Amino acid sequence: MTEFDPSRRKLLKATAVATSGAVIAGRLVPEAEAAPAPVAPPQSSTPANVNVLLRVNGSEHQLMIDPRTTLLDALRERLHLTGSKKGCDQGQCGACTVIVDGRRITSCLTLAVMQEGHDITTIEGLGTPANLHPMQAAFIKHDGYQCGFCTPGQICSAVAMLDEVKAGIPSHATEDLTAAPRMTTIEFRERMSGNICRCGAYSNIQEAIAEVAGVKA
Ligand code: FES
Ligand code: FES
Repeated sequence: MTEFDPSRRKLLKATAVATSGAVIAGRLVPEAEAAPAPVAPPQSSTPANVNVLLRVNGSEHQLMIDPRTTLLDALRERLHLTGSKKGCDQGQCGACTVIVDGRRITSCLTLAVMQEGHDITTIEGLGTPANLHPMQAAFIKHDGYQCGFCTPGQICSAVAMLDEVKAGIPSHATEDLTAAPRMTTIEFRERMSGNICRCGAYSNIQEAIAEVAGVKA
């Protein structure tokens, strides 16, 4: 038997140390940690703009908008119909009320894309300075406003509200939902309760609505 070559012994020793080190390292560090998966680049949270056709006050408008745009913002910022006001932006004040297919809605609580194909009427479409809607004329006659901020919403709401009563549509504010709604100022007040006037012009607003409805205030 030949004598063990010292240089070969050194090589075997070094190999053994390296191998055992790799095994220990493999036990201590899980494979997933040892080789982390590549991180995907962050995705953009902004949805792509969409095309929407809005029919407002009898005119059609093709808009490219963020799908999260409210009807109120589309009217004010894109179509520059600034009569509809942004009060609370939470559906609580009624300043943004517009009429869609004959029914009043708070335009801050609906998306513009949801109103495609519907007939939208804003205060600008109800009448003009030279040809006022009877409700606009009555508000002026009875001083149904002070600062005027809530007035476009009040007028749009009042116009659609009278149509609701005439059509016999029950109100959630009315106690007996089975009874036909009556043309009374109490009924009007209940139904207009979603339109806040911070100036407190309620009695004058009531007089204006009563005049248009043809009832005693
Ligand atoms: Fe829409 Fe107040 S701004 S309800
Ligand atoms: Fe000022 Fe109604 S007139 S809030």
